[in-house]
Amino acid sequence: MFPTHRPRRLRRNPLIRSMVRETELQPADLIYPLFVQETSTTPEPIDAMPGQSRHTMDSLLSEAERAVQVGVPALLLFGIPRHKDAQGSGAYADDGVVQRAVRALKQRKFPLLVITDVCMCEYTSHGHCGEIHDNDVDNDASLKLITATALSQAAAGADIVAPSDMMDGRVGAIRKILDDNGHSNVALLSYAAKYASGFYGPFREAAGSAPQFGDRQSYQMDPANSREALKEVQADIDEGADMVMVKPALAYLDVIHQVKAMTNVPVAAYNVSGEYSMIEFAAKAGVIDRERVIKEVLTSIKRAGADLILTYHAVEAAGWLRKAAGVK
Ligand code: PBG
Repeated sequence: MFPTHRPRRLRRNPLIRSMVRETELQPADLIYPLFVQETSTTPEPIDAMPGQSRHTMDSLLSEAERAVQVGVPALLLFGIPRHKDAQGSGAYADDGVVQRAVRALKQRKFPLLVITDVCMCEYTSHGHCGEIHDNDVDNDASLKLITATALSQAAAGADIVAPSDMMDGRVGAIRKILDDNGHSNVALLSYAAKYASGFYGPFREAAGSAPQFGDRQSYQMDPANSREALKEVQADIDEGADMVMVKPALAYLDVIHQVKAMTNVPVAAYNVSGEYSMIEFAAKAGVIDRERVIKEVLTSIKRAGADLILTYHAVEAAGWLRKAAGVK
């Protein structure tokens, strides 16, 4: 009898489709990135990222509350400091914007993990992710600033630090400074395979962190490479990374898949600002079904192999997932 296989039998109705579904997204998979600033007393909407804002301490706390209500387990914090300088001193100041935000969140005892982005580019006047010597980002000099940043975030109460600078050796250096200072329980989520990507455009507008000269191609990865991603991931695991990240997500689903296959640590993927804004602007133009596309994108990232997804849609998506599961 022809045809022997009729795959449509398993697609006939919602019940049978739910039985054979291979990938199920859940709120606990999601991490919500947030911007916190110290110059304005009201939250500032980010034009390049409709629906996202540069938060004040107060509005950050209400976003945290919203995240808790829908079961999102973790926030990722980015700081936008009042002052920038060549050494990015706001990144590792005891009363820096992120350090104050972490303390405020921890004081409220939210059932939330606080992850801090460890990088210099939001804090340096030149916009690069480290210290400049002879028009180049000096790797080893930058490590001092980066480790100081991670340490001050841990001291403020961060549960997880996430270095995104792509300097060589930073994972081992951060692990050491944390352990030497009594923070051996603070976990390290490394942006292990971070590409030099055009998809960060809206983020750089949001954080005012675009490089003032040159670009990031001498430290972030070439989008053409995937074997090199595996090398970066292995190096970070060897240096003590507890979890590794691929970033961006959508144009790098193959990399997520390969990283998942080669390692036994949790794999995260960052659905970055450009990926977020493409959906928002296309939805505004009326050419896509917004909710459907967001779910499809997040599911595809999980299907590719991501255990965790960093997404600006986290709270909204978790709300839909809970509703679909019948949780009020
Ligand atoms: C900082 C950093 C960037 C992002 C996360 N951390 C920007 C960059 O490398 O230029 C991008 C996040 C996003 O686009 O959503 N180094």
